[in-house]
Amino acid sequence: MVNIGIAGATGMVGRTFLKVMEERNFPVNELYLFASSKSKGTTIEFNNKKYVVEELNESSFDKPMDIVLFSAGGDLSKKYAPIAKEKGIVVVDNSSAWRMEDWVPLIVPEVNGDSISKNKGIIANPNCSTIQSVIPLKPLNDRYKLKRVVFSTYQAVSGSGVAGLEDLEKGLSSTYNNIYPHPIAYNVLPHIDSFLDNGYTKEEMKMIDETKKILNDQDIQITATTVRVPVKYGHAVSANIELEKEFELDDIFTLLKNTDGIEVLDDLDNNIYPMPILAEGKDKVYVGRIRRDFSIKNGLNIWIVADNSRKGAATNTVQIAELLLNK
Ligand SMILES: NC(=O)c1ccc[n+]([C@@H]2O[C@H](COP(=O)([O-])OP(=O)(O)OC[C@H]3O[C@@H](n4cnc5c(N)ncnc54)[C@H](OP(=O)(O)O)[C@@H]3O)[C@@H](O)[C@H]2O)c1
Repeated sequence: MVNIGIAGATGMVGRTFLKVMEERNFPVNELYLFASSKSKGTTIEFNNKKYVVEELNESSFDKPMDIVLFSAGGDLSKKYAPIAKEKGIVVVDNSSAWRMEDWVPLIVPEVNGDSISKNKGIIANPNCSTIQSVIPLKPLNDRYKLKRVVFSTYQAVSGSGVAGLEDLEKGLSSTYNNIYPHPIAYNVLPHIDSFLDNGYTKEEMKMIDETKKILNDQDIQITATTVRVPVKYGHAVSANIELEKEFELDDIFTLLKNTDGIEVLDDLDNNIYPMPILAEGKDKVYVGRIRRDFSIKNGLNIWIVADNSRKGAATNTVQIAELLLNK
């Protein structure tokens, strides 16, 4: 049994942590919930017991915690994760604040769970679209070696937390945008996170850099276009892949079907393929539309869908915490 803290407990990911921990019977002894001053004193139920939310501050980590799960945004992770680490509490962080630090393991348990052994006090949970993408890419890289990958994403508004859901819901009945630069209802925005000098968005660079780090392969050529779509839960990724080695399509199907964490949904005669409404609330990564890219040698197209709030965030984080317990 462990003492666990959650920073950002009232948020979309924070609440999903609690749901996932209940479902997986995560062995919680004491539970400490933190959020902003706005939520101080509110109660949240976990395993039929009510817990009072406290305001996150420097002294939060004086409490006897073993692990703290952070999902309160990058700035707060940057500020508070070192304080928790200093007190001997292991941080599993959902933001992008620590992911690309050399000494910080960036973990998808099905892909590189063994890097938990490099834990030095802060472990990072990857970007949501990256998590679902590396799960099918890993066996393809191991067997055929990835030469180039072109990611195009279709990302749900819940990826921006409760505020993203609000922009979509309010926008359905009026022209409304608060956190997005344009209305998201009845629209599509080729813009996730801020723009960089190279013309990419931060989200696109996260997919490129994090994929290479998780697969431990800097040679793969990767590009990405990340797009926000008016879907509540579930990100979709089209991955156009060029492999080094020749392949038989049947072998690709078999390989992906036998990969931990994946369910292949690909029955064209019956219009069966992965969609966000099928993935919502589930922990699997759904892969379909598996077909050759005839335009290049050893080309392959796959379509990858997962619930961003679960496998893309909370479930992956709780799995990392389970790795810590088993270690
Ligand atoms: N949504 C996703 O699919 C997803 C996926 C992967 C990673 N992430 C990352 O997870 C983090 C949280 O995302 P989310 O979607 O859960 O956002 P959210 O729904 O907006 O929740 C944000 C949480 O942070 C807390 N918070 C805000 N300001 C705070 C402050 N000054 N002090 C303490 N707590 C504060 C909020 O508390 P109050 O309720 O009191 O304001 C709330 O609990 C972000 O870093 C995000 O990038 C999200």
